[in-house]
Amino acid sequence: MSNREAWASRIGLVLAMAGNAVGLGNFLRFPRQAALNGGGAYLIPYFVAFLALGIPLMWVEWAIGRYGGQFNQSTTAGQFDRMWRSGWAKVLGSLGISIPLLITIYYCYLESWTLSYTFFSLGKTYFGSTDQGAMNQFLRSYQGVVEGGPFQSMLPAIGFWVATLALNLWVLYRGISGGIEKLAKIAMPILVIFAIILVVRVITLGTPDPAFPDRNVGNGFGYVWNPDFSLLGSFPVWLAAAGQIFFTLSIGSGAIQTYASYLKKDDDCALTGLATSSTNEFVEVVLGGSIAIPIAVAFFGLEATKAIAAQGSFDLGFVAMPVIFQKLPLGFIFGALWFSLLFFAGITSSVALASPFVALLKENLGLSRVTAILVTGGVLLVFGLPIILLLQHGYMDQYDFWIGTVLLVVFSLIETLIFVFAFKRGGAAANSGGGGFRGWFKNAGVAGWEEMNRGADIRIPRFFFYVIKILLPLVLAFLLIGWIWEDVTSKSSVILMRGVEGEAAMFQWISRGSILLLMTGIAILVVVAFRRRPQ
Ligand code: ALA
Repeated sequence: MSNREAWASRIGLVLAMAGNAVGLGNFLRFPRQAALNGGGAYLIPYFVAFLALGIPLMWVEWAIGRYGGQFNQSTTAGQFDRMWRSGWAKVLGSLGISIPLLITIYYCYLESWTLSYTFFSLGKTYFGSTDQGAMNQFLRSYQGVVEGGPFQSMLPAIGFWVATLALNLWVLYRGISGGIEKLAKIAMPILVIFAIILVVRVITLGTPDPAFPDRNVGNGFGYVWNPDFSLLGSFPVWLAAAGQIFFTLSIGSGAIQTYASYLKKDDDCALTGLATSSTNEFVEVVLGGSIAIPIAVAFFGLEATKAIAAQGSFDLGFVAMPVIFQKLPLGFIFGALWFSLLFFAGITSSVALASPFVALLKENLGLSRVTAILVTGGVLLVFGLPIILLLQHGYMDQYDFWIGTVLLVVFSLIETLIFVFAFKRGGAAANSGGGGFRGWFKNAGVAGWEEMNRGADIRIPRFFFYVIKILLPLVLAFLLIGWIWEDVTSKSSVILMRGVEGEAAMFQWISRGSILLLMTGIAILVVVAFRRRPQ
């Protein structure tokens, strides 16, 4: 009898999976992307990407995870190895451990800002920094990026970061049903309630300053929701929309597969996968889309809101919102609601992103629970510290670009190809389509499709078989090429580090080196683990 961990209840699983997906991406990244890419114009490619890429990939990842779980394989390294008997399977699968761990490394630092700003709201620490310039100075001083300002040292930033790591590690230590599931059952309802309170506050704002009749909530909602077909021909808008779908659903990282591996053999994937994806979209578009942009438009106007979003990834959340909270009655409470909801959203994602690595250590390398957590903590500290100390040199931006954008697509492409073209469940579909290329192509994807539909509570329309087999590989390859092309031809190319010189260039190379180091290290660890203990 296996003593493998498992989800305690279906509702717990749904909440944990939704918590995995719902994160800072829903409340900070989505509004920014929408503000930058034409508001309502962005929503059309966004929904197309959700339907054509997001949902099918979610099903693929659930099926891969659940299949591997039958063989006690919690990470894509072991899962791919079971699906495809090739030496490459586990090495490629190791990406499903290193990618989410690398995201956790920078994500936890962002998460720690939400924790500190919750306290700064309750204690009115930033009250007095009443305009964007002053609030910007507050944030940069906290980050240690500028001299002077309210913070004399980086100790508060480091202290909140260490506290955030400790909380994450504690949840991971408690395990799947005792830690992650319990956290999700508490955090998810709280964050939805807090978000609804904030949305109601936003809707009832009207026109805060009658001297500026254009600055009203209605115009904010109008910007988010009015479709604009003129931007549909813009490739960058499509790229931005697809990128957001990957990030927000946590697909292409390996985190979903690990959670799905704790399902039972015949548990439903189809309906539950769809339910968690839809929950994520509700939280992102309906709740996430109704807070930061409409409130910023009501107070600053549309053009200024777009300009704030363009300044930096977090300026809407950490600069504009605190300025607004200071203008609202009981603003410190609304501030605490906003930042604590971000924290709850963040932590339910970061524990998911770290869990493949913890599973590798515990289940494949045989480390005890305590040792596995201590090693994870050590890696997060060692790789996270430069992110904090070298923030102003674009060290974190390298992580976000390579991991949070490019590698998510690379890994999605790899897993789709394995799922469609290499996966032969028990050899079942191996020889039924005749010989030659035609026979091979006819069979491709059949085993995966059958696996995905086993135990399903809904019938997935057959049309998705072709989406997964043909559309996904083509679109993912096209996106990847498009992304790289888009970047290398842009004036601010991250790949070519255009305009980056001297010290900053050196630090960005170190950042890239650290990414490569971790990816190689984990690949080696996987190979060693599978040699030492035949899995
Ligand atoms: N899916 C997580 C988010 O949206 C990572 O933040």
